[in-house]
Amino acid sequence: MRRKLAAGNWKMNGTGAALEELDELSRMIGTTALQVVICPPAPLLYRACEAAQDSIIAIGGQDCHSAAAGAHTGDISAAMIADTGAQYVILGHSERRADHHESDADIHAKVKAAWAAELTAILCIGETAEQQQSGTTLEILATQLAGSLPDAVSATNTVIAYEPVWAIGTGKVPSLEQIAETHDFIRDTLITRFGETTGNAVPLLYGGSVKPDNAETIFRAENVDGALVGGASLKASDFAPIIAAL
Ligand code: G3H
Repeated sequence: MRRKLAAGNWKMNGTGAALEELDELSRMIGTTALQVVICPPAPLLYRACEAAQDSIIAIGGQDCHSAAAGAHTGDISAAMIADTGAQYVILGHSERRADHHESDADIHAKVKAAWAAELTAILCIGETAEQQQSGTTLEILATQLAGSLPDAVSATNTVIAYEPVWAIGTGKVPSLEQIAETHDFIRDTLITRFGETTGNAVPLLYGGSVKPDNAETIFRAENVDGALVGGASLKASDFAPIIAAL
């Protein structure tokens, strides 16, 4: 039985006052066997970990540098994220790939850095609208997985989030058939490379315009083990029903 996981990516949203949403979320979801992760902006990590310490909510970063330390102004290392008490880090998000020109090789190095700091990497992959229209989605996913995933993947150190770039923040969501096809493909790719046990154990998340009113449908796909949620994770009243649908 794979673990199910709902992760919220706050992106560049929220100051200290937003941490009240963690209390509210904790109150709304109560106890659950699901893993719930909130990834706030880096300046909130310490306070988020403190605020969530008596709850089931785990905290994650949104990116890390591939180096352990050094002259990298403005960057943060995986060890710094772990030192706050965070347990996860999102890597390879399409907004990092686009805004910061991150390549699969860059992301590969960051995943290794995350593992070295004992963080679980939430690795994001996904095709653009142009790639989807030209019918190369599966090819793109295969290339991104091959290029950005190091060999030492385990059931606990990695989560894969499939996020079609054209679905992020747009209100557009692929059909259930498309979601099933891409997640089945990712599962098969992991099994081929890492074997049945590991390949079957890595959780796969869907991300891109997940909302309270579409979550239940999305979660019907066999290889969807949860969601990476942006906008609808900012308010506990939106995120809690998504978690409840899982
Ligand atoms: O990391 C989260 C995704 O980019 C999805 O964002 O739920 O606002 O579409 P969204």
